[in-house]
Amino acid sequence: MSITFLFFLTIFNFSFDHGAFALASKPRVSAPSSIGRLLHPQGIRAAYWPSFTGYPASSIDTSYFSHIYYAFVLPSPTTYALNVTSDDVEKLLEFANATGSWNPHAKTVLSIGGGGGGALPGIFSQMASQACSRATFINSTIKIAREYNFDGVDLDWEFPSNESDMSNLGLLFKEWREALEYEANITKRVRLILTSAVYYASNISFNGGPRSYPIQAISQYVDWISPMCFDYHGSWENFTGLHSALYDPYTKLSTDFGIGSWIQAGVPPKKIVMGLPLYGRTWSLANPNITTVGAPATGTGPGSGLLVYSQVIDFNRDNNATIVFDDTRISYYSYAGDSWVSYDDIGSIKSKVHYARTRSLGGYFFWALGQDLDWAISSTASQAWLT
Ligand SMILES: *[C@@H]1O[C@H](CO)[C@@H](O)[C@H](O)[C@H]1NC(C)=O
Ligand SMILES: *[C@@H]1O[C@H](CO)[C@@H](O)[C@H](O)[C@H]1NC(C)=O
Ligand SMILES: *[C@@H]1O[C@H](CO)[C@@H](O)[C@H](O)[C@H]1NC(C)=O
Ligand SMILES: *[C@@H]1O[C@H](CO)[C@@H](O)[C@H](O)[C@H]1NC(C)=O
Ligand SMILES: *[C@@H]1O[C@H](CO)[C@@H](O)[C@H](O)[C@H]1NC(C)=O
Ligand SMILES: *[C@@H]1O[C@H](CO)[C@@H](O)[C@H](O)[C@H]1NC(C)=O
Ligand SMILES: *[C@@H]1O[C@H](CO)[C@@H](O)[C@H](O)[C@H]1NC(C)=O
Ligand SMILES: *[C@@H]1O[C@H](CO)[C@@H](O)[C@H](O)[C@H]1NC(C)=O
Ligand SMILES: *[C@@H]1O[C@H](CO)[C@@H](O)[C@H](O)[C@H]1NC(C)=O
Repeated sequence: MSITFLFFLTIFNFSFDHGAFALASKPRVSAPSSIGRLLHPQGIRAAYWPSFTGYPASSIDTSYFSHIYYAFVLPSPTTYALNVTSDDVEKLLEFANATGSWNPHAKTVLSIGGGGGGALPGIFSQMASQACSRATFINSTIKIAREYNFDGVDLDWEFPSNESDMSNLGLLFKEWREALEYEANITKRVRLILTSAVYYASNISFNGGPRSYPIQAISQYVDWISPMCFDYHGSWENFTGLHSALYDPYTKLSTDFGIGSWIQAGVPPKKIVMGLPLYGRTWSLANPNITTVGAPATGTGPGSGLLVYSQVIDFNRDNNATIVFDDTRISYYSYAGDSWVSYDDIGSIKSKVHYARTRSLGGYFFWALGQDLDWAISSTASQAWLT
């Protein structure tokens, strides 16, 4: 399973510096009413299918989801068109075939990119910097999405690295949306939806200067964004932490801060689809007697720093772990011996989904399919959202 985590989840091997964030008020950008809202009156209950883990697409129970994301295809570093390799073709066909047995209301979205790091952010940066490479990229996403019968396309650029990347991202969204509308007009098909996975907050200040997402373009051209509300902490830090805390009394590393920053920046709440992790992060305690949030840690715990939800449940049972619900931060941790695990479970998922509803968000998404235990978390979230 560990290959799952080479993608999408960015491993922050550097310390966060969110000190530049300031909660100054800012006028909201006015936005046209969301077509996503009309198309999806019950809201977005999404999940990503990592095509590279071996978890079969045919095993997905779509009664819990409105949208299934295919993760991932990549642009060519030389032409910027999507480079669909023979491995991709095999997985795309598996996915397309599986949709035949799914709930017919479940929509599918082709996701481009991921958190693999390496050269990918630079390839997106170059692609977005020129009108001709943007057009090549955009045209190829439409071609591939139609070829495999997707209902939409999704960009997962982790992450734009400066203000010029951010403004080019705005141009990309504008031209992409126009191309999708044009294609829908001339083919008389339903327009492909356009979504994007984004940083948990509307500003980024690690690994480069402070930079802000193009809020106006997002509000106007993107059907919704999916802030990745996880990985706030991990074994790259020498203390334990809740990696997907809803609240944090001392820092800005929380879902409430991130979602609040997007709303404050002017993105309509209905266009915000909140990230939920189906995995935990682990540490080795420096002293097994000091087990609180913030306890000194010496490195990775079980699973080399990461356990998927079903493995966390196994770990807790096999080690008779002590389980703690942090009712301030709204997340769980467990520990046994010198192992310490941060994760979400039924109680915190319910609270987070209620939070998303209370803030009138568009919905939520999970990273990732194949990590749940008998749909316990997926069904809890779906029920909490719909009832
Ligand atoms: C994000 O950055 C912009 C531009 O610097 C600033 O106006 C805004 O207050 C910042 N938002 C947050 C939540 O820090
Ligand atoms: C597409 O990807 C394959 C496999 O990584 C690589 O060999 C090939 O050169 C790529 N093609 C383009 C046009 O980038
Ligand atoms: C296609 O779907 C059918 C029915 O869902 C399944 O039995 C079959 O194994 C699938 N084939 C592939 C190549 O995934
Ligand atoms: C992209 O598609 C549009 C519409 O079909 C076409 O006019 C344009 O020439 C294409 N651009 C590239 C670079 O392929
Ligand atoms: C912004 O970042 C990209 C990607 O790292 C880089 O190629 C580009 O030169 C940078 N632009 C500026 C103005 O710093
Ligand atoms: C698509 O068609 C609509 C309605 O006919 C029109 O208003 C719009 O300008 C067209 N958009 C594009 C990009 O062609
Ligand atoms: C953790 O790391 C920080 C900075 O790297 C250092 O200042 C601190 O002393 C370390 N704490 C422990 C308990 O090792
Ligand atoms: C942990 O606590 C136990 C019981 O109080 C004690 O015997 C042990 O020495 C402590 N271990 C460490 C590493 O402090
Ligand atoms: C599990 O832990 C509890 C207290 O945390 C203890 O009472 C119980 O004996 C333990 N069971 C086993 C099988 O170790």
